[in-house]
Amino acid sequence: MKQYLYAANWKMYLPMQEEILFFTSHKQEFTELSTQASIALFPSYLSLPAIAQELQGSSIKLGAQDCSAAPLGAYTGQVSARSIAQVGCTYCIVGHSERRALGETNDIIAQKVTRLLENSVTPIVCIGETAQENAQGVTLTILEMQLEPILKVISDKPLVIAYEPVWAIGTNRTPTSTDIEKILLHIATMTAHHKNITLLYGGSIDKDNIKEFKNNAHIGGFLIGHASMDSQEFKKIVQS
Ligand code: 13P
Repeated sequence: MKQYLYAANWKMYLPMQEEILFFTSHKQEFTELSTQASIALFPSYLSLPAIAQELQGSSIKLGAQDCSAAPLGAYTGQVSARSIAQVGCTYCIVGHSERRALGETNDIIAQKVTRLLENSVTPIVCIGETAQENAQGVTLTILEMQLEPILKVISDKPLVIAYEPVWAIGTNRTPTSTDIEKILLHIATMTAHHKNITLLYGGSIDKDNIKEFKNNAHIGGFLIGHASMDSQEFKKIVQS
C-alpha cells in the first residue's frame, strides 16, 4: 500500500502553551497514527523545542513553517535553516501562500530551499494559483513560474512540492479530480528528471474528500491545515 505523508500545518492557530498542550494531549493518537502512515507536525516556531523533546525516539516527524533566506547574520526576527535543523526538524515549509501574500518572491523561496538543503532539512515548497489566476486559465503558467527557480537550485536530495491552490485554502472548496489530474501530471512531468520528489496536495482536505484525492496516482501525501487541529478528523483523514 502507498505510504502517504500527512503534514499537519498548525499555522498560528494556537499560542505556544496551548499548542504544546494540544500536542501532549494527543501524542498517543499521533504516535499510533505514525505506525500506519508518515506523520509530520508543523507547530509554530516557539513550540518546536518542547515538541522536539517530546518526540525523541518517535517516528513522528517535526517541521517548521518557514525559515530565513539568509544563512546567518543581521536579520532581525528571522529564524535560520541552521536553527531549524538544530531543533530537530526533518521538514520545513517554504513559499506558503500565506507568506507569499506578505511579499515573498519565487527567488526568495529558492534561496530558502538552498539554505534548507545545505542543512539537510527537506523543503516542502508550496505552489498554487489564486482564484483570479484560476479564472483566467493561467494556472499551469503560474505553477511553472513558481517551480522553475526551485528546480534550478535542487540536487537529488529529497524535496517535497505541495500543490495548494490559494482559493482552496480554508474555504472548503477543492479542485475537481479532472483538474487535479491535469495539474499534478504537469508538475510530475516538469519534475520528472529529478529524483526524490514527492508531490502533496493541500487545501481544504477533510475526512469526506480525502478518498477522492487518494485516487490520484501522483499524490504522495497531503498538507492539512484546519482539519489537522481536530484530532478525530485528522485520524479519519489518515485512516480513510
Ligand atoms: P486548510 O487545510 O485549512 O485549507 O489549509 C491548507 C494549508 O494551507 C496547509 O498548508
